[in-house]
Amino acid sequence: MADSDRLITEIQDWNRYLGDGVQANPYGMPSEFEAHVVRRDVEWLTASTESSINFTPLHELDGILTPNGLCFERHHGGVAEISPADHRLMINGLVDTPLVFTMEDLKRFPRENRIYFLECAANSGMEWRGAQLNGCQYTHGMIHCVMYTGVPLKYLLEEAGVKTTGKWVMPEGADSSAMTRSIPMEKALDDCLVAFKMNGEALRPEQGYPLRLVVPGWEGNMWVKWLRRLEVGDQPWHQREETSKYTDLLASGKARRFTWVMDAKSVVTNPSPQAPITHGKGPLVISGVAWSGNGKITRVDVSIDGGRNWKTARLDGPSLPKAMHRFYLDIDWDGSELLLQSRAMDEEGFFQPTKDELRIARGENSIYHNNGIQTWHVKGDGTVENVEVA
Ligand code: MTE
Ligand code: CO
Repeated sequence: MADSDRLITEIQDWNRYLGDGVQANPYGMPSEFEAHVVRRDVEWLTASTESSINFTPLHELDGILTPNGLCFERHHGGVAEISPADHRLMINGLVDTPLVFTMEDLKRFPRENRIYFLECAANSGMEWRGAQLNGCQYTHGMIHCVMYTGVPLKYLLEEAGVKTTGKWVMPEGADSSAMTRSIPMEKALDDCLVAFKMNGEALRPEQGYPLRLVVPGWEGNMWVKWLRRLEVGDQPWHQREETSKYTDLLASGKARRFTWVMDAKSVVTNPSPQAPITHGKGPLVISGVAWSGNGKITRVDVSIDGGRNWKTARLDGPSLPKAMHRFYLDIDWDGSELLLQSRAMDEEGFFQPTKDELRIARGENSIYHNNGIQTWHVKGDGTVENVEVA
C-alpha cells in the first residue's frame, strides 16, 4: 500500500461525524455497500414472474446458512398472502379423526430446530447439454440452507391417527397453484417438519408464510409452501408435479419417476464468473459449498487442472446431515490458467459424477437431478468462465 494512502493519513467523515442513532431502521437492512448482493432471475427462462424462479447469490455468501432475504424463490402461482389468523391446516383421508389446526394449535405441539438445505430438482438443469449460464448463482443457485423451527409431521399424523391402510401423504398448498405431491408414509414419519420459522424468524412470504412442509434431503418441489392440507391415502396420487414434471426422461424414452433424493453435489463459489480474481498472483482462497440428501458430506476434493489431479479440501463449520457444508482450499496462485472443479462425497460413499458420466447413464433429455461436476475456466487476468472439459 502506498505511503500516501489518504484513508490512513486523513480523518474520514465516518470518524468525524455522529452516525444514525438506534431505531433508524427498526427492521435492520444490510449495508448500502452490499446492494449488489441480491437474488436474480433469468428473464428468458419463464413466460411470467408468477410461475418462475430466481437464484440465491451463492458467490456472495460464506458459511452454511442462507440469509432469509437471499433464499431463492420458486413459485408456480405467485406468492400467496395469508394472515396467520386465517390460516388452517387440515388432515383428512385415511385417518381415525380428521383434524383442522390453527397456527396457535400447531405452536402447542413440541417443536424441533433443524438445519437443512432445500434444492430444486431443476437446479443446474439448464446445464445438462453443455455449459450455459455464466455464474454459480444461475448454475447452482436454486438452493438455500436455513434453520427451521417446526413440529415433526409425525406428531400431527399421530394426533389424527393414521389407519393401517394409510401408506402415503399428500401435502397441498393454499396458493393459486395448489401444489400437491405424494410422499411415502415412512418419510412422513421419519424427519419431515411442519415449519413456521426459518433462521429464528417467521417464514418469509416467498418461502410459504405462515407454514411450509420440510422434506429433508428430498427435491424442493415436495416442500409444499403455504401448507393447508395433508391427505392420507393408500397409494400415490400421480399429480402433475410427479408425472409430466419432475420426472427424468431417459434415452430409451422411458421416464424415471419418484426420484426424490438430491444426491451428493458441490460447486466452487469463489472464484466463479460473477466473482473473478481481482488481487493478482499469490494467496488465493478457493471456496465452495457441498451437500447431499443422503446425509453428511465427508469429503470434498478440488482440482485446478480440470480433474486430472485432486486435492482434498478443508471442510469448515458445522457438518450436519442433509445440510450445506462449506469447503476451502487455500493455494498460492501463480497467475496461470486454471480449470477449477470440485467433487463431493457423502457418508453413504457416493461420489459426485462427472457430467459425461451422468449423460452416459441418463441420456441428454433430462432437466432434473443434474449433480454433475462443474468446471470454471480461470484466465490469467482472473476472469472466470463456465466451461465443460471432455
Ligand atoms: N409450494 C407451493 N404451494 N407452491 C409452489 O409453487 N414450489 C415448489 C416448492 N413448494 C411451490 C411449493 C418448488 S418447485 C420448490 S423448488 C420449492 O418450493 C422452492 O422453495 P423456496 O421458494 O422456498 O425456495
Ligand atoms: Co423446484
